[in-house]
Amino acid sequence: MKRHVTLTGITPSGTPHLGNYLGAMRPAIEKTRTDANSEFFYFLADYHSLIKSQDFDRIRQSSIEVAASWLAAGLDPEQVKIYRQSDLIETAELNWILSCVAPKGLLNRAHAYKAIRDDNVENGRDEDFNVTMGLYCYPVLMTADIILFDAKYVPVGADQVQHLEIARDIVGSFNYRYGETFVLPEALVGDGKLLTGLDGRKMSKSYNNAIELYCPEKQLKKDIMKIKTNSQLPGEPKNPDESILFEYFAAFGQPDEVANMRQAFLDGIGWGDAKEKLFQLVNRELAPEREKYQYYISHPGEIEDILLAGADKVKPLAKAKMEEVRNKVGIRAFR
Ligand code: TRP
Repeated sequence: MKRHVTLTGITPSGTPHLGNYLGAMRPAIEKTRTDANSEFFYFLADYHSLIKSQDFDRIRQSSIEVAASWLAAGLDPEQVKIYRQSDLIETAELNWILSCVAPKGLLNRAHAYKAIRDDNVENGRDEDFNVTMGLYCYPVLMTADIILFDAKYVPVGADQVQHLEIARDIVGSFNYRYGETFVLPEALVGDGKLLTGLDGRKMSKSYNNAIELYCPEKQLKKDIMKIKTNSQLPGEPKNPDESILFEYFAAFGQPDEVANMRQAFLDGIGWGDAKEKLFQLVNRELAPEREKYQYYISHPGEIEDILLAGADKVKPLAKAKMEEVRNKVGIRAFR
């Protein structure tokens, strides 16, 4: 018997890059292999992606790419319940019920909304310019995702911690008003280090400094050759702790390989040489996954089947929970 639920959502917005892989995907998949006490629910938050984009082709394509990436990176659908948020209409129903409990003042402080409002005010626009109810209520929907399955642990990036605090507040209000119904969730925050991009800023699609996770091998090599270095010549000792190259090397190498590379830096390895070694190392891990990724991308029907099978597994749980919730709030049959 598993002791608790670990759940996280992945918003399909864009093609995953190396920063997503090292910061979120690889540790989340690793966790499914090492934590025997958890039941795992990992889902595509496609309702959430509507907040940022109304481009339906883009959302669909991105959902396929994100699902294919997780499967290629080793997520095992037998072990992890992987599904699409939008296949569970119960989420939308719970979202509404929770929005009748969530205080507006709580959501006024949510940072995604607050950032836009502050920017509007600063620039002399109406404070709600470009603010949809979806953006405003985003943390309520996220709460519904989590508590529908009584998740206890929620692996997220540091930027999502506030949303978990909001979820805890909402759970507290609901349980207080209607009696103990939902488990109080907790954020599990990763190490918080964001991968540096090719140009030295944090890796982000919007800076155009990211390496696409499963790009063709040639492109991977080209991108690695673009990593910013200084003008030190071969033979000059180099500081591994100030090098983006070394940071990537450390993320992909075995401890002895990383130690050897550290020594090679101190011994003055040339940048070209170091880049070639880095490429070999990264590609060693990604090449077999890239092949699986290509397979899934060209067989979207198989991804669909996997996601629907996942939804079938979790649907009975969601239904049972919603029956309990409906009862508690007074939506019941008259008979
Ligand atoms: N908001 C999260 C993000 O952008 C994605 C998400 C949606 C999520 N629902 C969730 C994460 C529930 C954890 C639990 O990263």
